[in-house]
Parts: sequence; structure tokens; C-alpha cells
Amino acid sequence: MSKKQRETVQKQFTKTAEAFAEFAVRDTPEVLAEKVEFAKPQPTDSALDVACGPGAFVLALAPRVSLARGIDLTVEMLRRARAFQRERQLANVAFDCGEAEQLPYPEAAFDLVSCQMSFHHISKPESALREMIRVTRPEGRLVVIDTLGPESDAKFELHNQIESRRDPSHTSSLRLTTFLQMFEECGLEILRQTMKRRQRSFNHWMLRAGLAAKHKRYLETRKLLEDSIPGDRAGYSPTLQGDDILIVHNEGMFLLAKQAVDGRR
Ligand SMILES: C[S@@+](CC[C@H](N)C(=O)[O-])C[C@H]1O[C@@H](n2cnc3c(N)ncnc32)[C@H](O)[C@@H]1O
Repeated sequence: MSKKQRETVQKQFTKTAEAFAEFAVRDTPEVLAEKVEFAKPQPTDSALDVACGPGAFVLALAPRVSLARGIDLTVEMLRRARAFQRERQLANVAFDCGEAEQLPYPEAAFDLVSCQMSFHHISKPESALREMIRVTRPEGRLVVIDTLGPESDAKFELHNQIESRRDPSHTSSLRLTTFLQMFEECGLEILRQTMKRRQRSFNHWMLRAGLAAKHKRYLETRKLLEDSIPGDRAGYSPTLQGDDILIVHNEGMFLLAKQAVDGRR
């Protein structure tokens, strides 16, 4: 990854670590449970969660697997992840600092390798995916979960413009078709695929990025979103609700397998 993108991600997620940990870890137990089930964890699995942030997913996965690791670029996120780990007294989890594009693990080290809600921060998503595949055992599985950009070119541009205005470390919310093409090019077999419409409060989403209503970035993002309402020009299906706006993020969940060379799994 470029030095500039590394610094942008670290700056953004150091600044927002507290808000992010509070809103991402505490508020979505049902969604988290759904994602853990989706990954089909096995008691013998050694699992890795890439770009783990404050560890919500990997800590929820840990009681269902033998060993779990999380890796992230931002030290402040890892500090929070370790604090949550201590709170929950989970002994089978470890955290490392490192980049998704250059994972510090040997080949075929894990049975289950996941990355959730982070591909849209990675400037070369295919490099990260290839690294995830490298560290997965031949019989192992991968889980990719991320928000999806709209398929229409015009909506895609505006959608990503709004995301980047809110969070400068955003690179691109990829389209479903881009994910599917990338999986095929990387030789992955889709075992299961689910699309979810996640409705959320705009104000809450902004708070997760450390932005209250008084911030310049809040106002600029809100203006772009409000201007997109006629004809839903950015694909958020926005609805005004008092001083808030309800928005929808389309989320793709993919359970993947390396394609066995001889066709057997
Ligand atoms: C939106 S947060 C998601 C965190 C977590 N997966 C979750 O769902 O709560 C994105 C995280 O990706 C990390 N990140 C971004 N780019 C990365 C990269 N290239 N390598 C490793 N971590 C990265 C950031 O530090 C941040 O913690």
C-alpha cells in the first residue's frame, strides 16, 4: 500500500478508535451473531481476521474456534481490541499490527480467514485478497463481508464521493460484480453468498467516524446526501426522519473456498 494511504488510514482510525469501538462493538450483537454463523466456524479452526479494527468479529468468533488472531494497521484499534479481549477473558485470541497486503504469516497457516467491512479502505483489494488466500490452508475457507457500491456508474461515483467526504481513508465500495470477478480471477469458489440491506441512522454513522452535527465534514456529507434524495442518485435509499436521515448500506457476505486443483474438496 502507498505511504499516503497508510498514513490516512492510521490517522482516521486513531482519531475515531474510541467512537468506532463504542458504536461498532456494542450496538450490533444480532448482526454480529449472524456474521459468525455465516462463517461456519469449526471447533478445530485456526482463524484470522484481517483489518480487525477493535476486534468485534474475531472476539465473537473466538469461543467457536480453537485459535483466533486479528491483524490491523492501526495501533489504537488494536489497543481497544486487546481491552475488549481482557474484558471477555478470552485466552485463545492474539492481535498483531500489520498490513492486509503483506500478511506476516506463512502459507496455509489458517483454516478460516476473514475480512469484514474493510475492503473499502484498501487501495489494492486484489492484493489483500491474494494474501488472504496465501495464508489459508488448501481445504480452508475465506469470508469477505463489505458494503457494496451501486452498479450504475452515476450512482457509484456519487456514493463513493459521499463515503470519502465522511471518511478520507475510504477508497472505494466495490460493486457486487467487481467482487464476483475478483473472486473468479483469484480462483475462489463461492460456497455461499448473501446480500443484506442494513438500514442505519445517518447521524449514528457519522458519529462512528467521529463527526458530530457541528463538524464541517458532517455538513458537507449531509448536503451531498440530501441533494441525492430526489431519484436516489447515490443509492442510499435515504428517508428524512426528524433531524436524522435513514440510509441503507447494501452489504455482501461471501463464504469462499480455494478451488481444489483436482476438483475435490
Ligand atoms: C471500518 S474499520 C472495520 C474494522 C472491523 N473489521 C470491523 O468490522 O469492526 C476498518 C479497519 O481497517 C483497518 N485497515 C485499513 N486498511 C488496512 C490495511 N491495508 N491493512 C490492515 N488494516 C487496514 C483500519 O485500521 C480499521 O481498523
